[in-house]
Amino acid sequence: MSGFFAGGRYWDLNAADVAAMDQARARLAAAGVTDPGHESRLIWAHVAGDAVRFADMVAQRAARVPLSHLLGYRDFYNHRFVVTADVLDPRPDTESIVIAALEQPFAQVLDLGTGSGCILLSLLAEQPQARGLGVDISEAALAVAARNSAALGLDQRADLRLSDWFSKVTGQFDLIISNPPYIAADEMSGLQPEVRLHEPAGALTDHGDGLSCYRIIAAGAPAHLAKGGRLMVEIGPTQARAVSAMFSAAGFTDLAVINDLDGRNRGILGHWQG
Ligand SMILES: C[S@@+](CC[C@H](N)C(=O)[O-])C[C@H]1O[C@@H](n2cnc3c(N)ncnc32)[C@H](O)[C@@H]1O
Repeated sequence: MSGFFAGGRYWDLNAADVAAMDQARARLAAAGVTDPGHESRLIWAHVAGDAVRFADMVAQRAARVPLSHLLGYRDFYNHRFVVTADVLDPRPDTESIVIAALEQPFAQVLDLGTGSGCILLSLLAEQPQARGLGVDISEAALAVAARNSAALGLDQRADLRLSDWFSKVTGQFDLIISNPPYIAADEMSGLQPEVRLHEPAGALTDHGDGLSCYRIIAAGAPAHLAKGGRLMVEIGPTQARAVSAMFSAAGFTDLAVINDLDGRNRGILGHWQG
């Protein structure tokens, strides 16, 4: 290898650079990083070939600090989002929920547990007439969402508010969407180090059976949904049956399971007929 494309340009490598890249790849592979070549190239582009910063970031990545925390961003759906240790690192799985939500137009959207704002802001960017409210219980997460909203020029249409689920939510929406914490307490120890050690626990788990947030969301959504409105939640791949039952018991109709590109169950959609 004498060069590669990354970060929008071609990087020509001399012999010393090639050796540094080879070492980095081997170090990341030994640390259990799944795509060490790709990540080495992204880090190289991020530090613009600065050998000292490259070695430092590779060492941090080998210690399983998430790549998004080192780069400071994650590309999600059609945009780049600032990511810090205060928010969940936006996942490709969640893009399936965004795509499903965009299958129908909406004018007012509520995003419960907005985190980086990746769902709310991706939706608003695609629907120029729509307005939205994103709530989170974490003030630090909302600060990240506000940075992302401003960077995408959406702060006139995106309201961000500190709220324990619906507690500070006002108004009616035709789409309520959420990717709540759904990892059960007893599953936390099995997570990858990047997630377990570096992402906020309050974004990952309900410290219970993984389903408690859905109970709150299914029970609270009808009071804030317009007639004909949709409730859509991301789920863990094994939770479709339990969450569908909750939606059904709360009076939602025309339920559908949303699958990701691998065919795994990743979301539940319900309609509210009032
Ligand atoms: C799985 S993360 C989702 C973040 C973002 N929406 C995404 O999809 O990347 C769950 C979010 O819910 C928030 N959250 C947890 N408990 C909450 C509560 N009681 N009320 C509001 N938000 C809450 C967390 O702070 C976190 O930002």
